[in-house]
Amino acid sequence: MNANPPTPIPTVLTTDVATAADALRAGKLVAFATETVYGLGANALDASAVARIFAAKERPLFDPLIVHLAAREAIGEVCNAVPPLAERLIEAFWPGPLTLVLPRRDVVPDLVTAGLPDVAVRVPDHALARALIARAGVPVAAPSANLFGRVSPTTAAHVMEQLDGRIEVVLDGGPCRVGVESTIVAFDAGERPRVLRYGGLAVEALEAVCGTLALPQAAARHPGAAPGAQPAPGMLEQHYAPRKPLTLLDTLAEADAAQRAAIARGTLGVLAFRGLPPGCVAPVIETLSAAGSLEEAATRLFAALRRLDAAAVAGIVAERVPDSGLGRAVNDRLRRAAHA
Ligand code: TXA
Ligand code: MG
Repeated sequence: MNANPPTPIPTVLTTDVATAADALRAGKLVAFATETVYGLGANALDASAVARIFAAKERPLFDPLIVHLAAREAIGEVCNAVPPLAERLIEAFWPGPLTLVLPRRDVVPDLVTAGLPDVAVRVPDHALARALIARAGVPVAAPSANLFGRVSPTTAAHVMEQLDGRIEVVLDGGPCRVGVESTIVAFDAGERPRVLRYGGLAVEALEAVCGTLALPQAAARHPGAAPGAQPAPGMLEQHYAPRKPLTLLDTLAEADAAQRAAIARGTLGVLAFRGLPPGCVAPVIETLSAAGSLEEAATRLFAALRRLDAAAVAGIVAERVPDSGLGRAVNDRLRRAAHA
């Protein structure tokens, strides 16, 4: 983490692609809407611009960035080789909420990949994002546009809350449709592709195209890893965290008497999937999807966490959602939010 945040700079909030693209070409930082969450972009081929992303986010340098392309055809600009299974996934899901980790070309600065031989790439399914990247004429490195470890932004206003004064431009493309970050898949020669992070593309949809995938382990650190050892990239446990303590239950029905009392007093806020169990009263509650849609739950998750964080409560009690489809990404983010 940076001890000293950068001195404040004016941040322009705009819907004008040309303004944002010019800024990217000039080595400046541009937050932009994608279908998943807002990204904090810089020219991926300009190491000093990329370095400013880490400073603005206070992100540790060992956490590599995703490179965003305007079209599938641009993949050769940053990747050396695309295995046949990756080709099939690209064909099926790009543009879309799928990031592939593939061998990088030398033009990609070490800072983008944290020195790894592979680079993470995706083509966002958002017309404004693709127009921005196409007009800038360069691949765009972009992590989520939040301070490191905090909840990802799904509106331009969320970006401004944390990054106003730290970046030059925010390109407002409206609220994000998917609401959780992309699903990340890595390829190791001779092995099944591995899901590194659950996200906005369901594993079931991926497996229908490329067969069984290796799935993330519940624990971020390898079982025998020394205390304090560096977790694998993308596997940091304390992530997506509100500032208030979050307790994660399988269902709200299992809240104990003390929790129920605090919920009823409004001392604890509730993050419910479909609503409250019978007999439970909660003045401060966010319901992810009364209809029980996991897509809707994903779309609403981060904004709901932010509202609960801002509410006059001491903590948050959340419940898991069904662990299938986008529910796996929702549960993954809730688990990490609870870890803090
Ligand atoms: O939907 C998304 O993926 C959003 C939007 C902006 O595209 N981006 C995003 O970026 O979530 P970020 O930086 O918050 O998360 C990217 C994750 C990181 O945790 C990083 O460790 C992992 O991707 N990653 C990036 N490059 C990698 C690499 N070469 N190998 C393994 N993991 C990598
Ligand atoms: Mg992030």
